[in-house]
Amino acid sequence: MDLPNLKEARKRTDKKVEVLTDSYRLTEELKKLGLNRNYYIRTYGCQMNEHDTEKIKAILEDMNFQEVENMENADLILLNTCAIRENVHNKVFGLLGHIKSLKEKKPHLIVGLCGCMAQEKVVVDEILNKYQWLDIVFGTHNIHNLPNILATSLAKKELEIEVLSVEGDIYENIPVKRESKYKAWINAMYGCDKFCTYCIVPYTRGKQRSRRPEFIISEVKQLVEEGYQEVTLLGQNVNAYGKDLDINYRMENLLEDVAKTGIPRVRFLTSHPWDFTDKMIEVIKKYKNIMPYIHLPVQSGSNKILKLMGRRYTKEEYIDLFNKIKEAIPNVAITTDIIVGFPGETDIDFRETLDIVNTCKFDSAFTFIFSKREGTAAAKMTDNVPIEVKNKRLQELNKLVNKYAEEANQKYLNQVVPVLLEGVNEKDNTMLYGYTETMKRVNVKADKSYLGKIVDVKITKAGTWLLEGELCA
Ligand code: 5AD
Ligand code: SF4
Repeated sequence: MDLPNLKEARKRTDKKVEVLTDSYRLTEELKKLGLNRNYYIRTYGCQMNEHDTEKIKAILEDMNFQEVENMENADLILLNTCAIRENVHNKVFGLLGHIKSLKEKKPHLIVGLCGCMAQEKVVVDEILNKYQWLDIVFGTHNIHNLPNILATSLAKKELEIEVLSVEGDIYENIPVKRESKYKAWINAMYGCDKFCTYCIVPYTRGKQRSRRPEFIISEVKQLVEEGYQEVTLLGQNVNAYGKDLDINYRMENLLEDVAKTGIPRVRFLTSHPWDFTDKMIEVIKKYKNIMPYIHLPVQSGSNKILKLMGRRYTKEEYIDLFNKIKEAIPNVAITTDIIVGFPGETDIDFRETLDIVNTCKFDSAFTFIFSKREGTAAAKMTDNVPIEVKNKRLQELNKLVNKYAEEANQKYLNQVVPVLLEGVNEKDNTMLYGYTETMKRVNVKADKSYLGKIVDVKITKAGTWLLEGELCA
């Protein structure tokens, strides 16, 4: 049993990151473990977690488990969790209550929890105290070992916990079952070393580790061969890519090499303003297949709060970067993340956040109330902002953010834009949906033969949340 440890997770040493190409291996026995067993997995959180789920699915299917869409029909239920805010924590423990009743009716049901919450000591302590009936708990550094963790728990008939709190290595041979046939997530780097004071990610995901470029490029080339239309390079702080490598190769080099593979669309998520270089802007501008869409979290418009958050930039520096990107890349869409109610945020600080939204007029923004995460620096700060005030600030901010989102969408009315059609509309199956280059969702009347194609669409309707359009002949 390996239990999470916050102090270990915080450590950053000179230890060389290992690139492991043979850590995932299955014996004949493990390959039979899933025979006649169904699995169901629910994913919370960010794209990194979605992509981890794609890996977990492939591992389970290597073991001959079969996926089902309904947890009631499963013999194995896995919750791949997120630790970034308290609300997922509550949802997950609520759902475990329901799953317990399923397990009482079906004692052979295997139940597991993985992902970022598994890296939190408070979570694992709670499981050890009150949820001993779970079968497996494994962390973000232990995915490759899932088959053995499962086998051990089944053999011992007891809870098996494997959560390593390490800086982390890179596992290159984990299989993946991609959710889409048209667009793919690709890990560019793992972990984060920024240690923004509110954020748990540097603890749950470990040290910044960039993948070697040759592994990334060969993954993209394979996807091009398979007919994929789009790749998204993932990292918690993706534009810091390469800073930890022993070669002189950075995000601009990676973007350029990925663009040169000829994949029709290249995206990347998420950028920290600190590491956004002029060279990156030049490359994005130069390649038509690097999409003009940048998610650039600002978090706050108050220099005092930015400092308390450990963000390493002032609002003036953010605005300068924002303007530089807008000027260099025609029609670029910039979106952001904002936290309200950070400890010490006064009304004046909050007004400054509204000011920066008024200045930047973001295409859209994800907005959050500060959530105290045990073990982070901000958890020790005195939080003197009452919850009612936080709620009111969030509402006021959302109103403003939505106004600019609608304005941004209105600009598309009557324009013709390329859209990658990727799915059937959930509410009306005569419509497909897809995304513009600038990451706006569009519903389009089109038959299924258009799925996976990039088509010209004339926008006929524009609302705050959605665009609608028609295929151009
Ligand atoms: N409380 C509220 N929001 C948070 N985020 C990260 N940590 C916290 C927290 N403790 C938000 C940030 C980040 C996004 C992914 O989630 O805005 O950019
Ligand atoms: Fe993703 Fe962060 Fe949530 Fe983990 S804590 S799932 S890395 S958003």
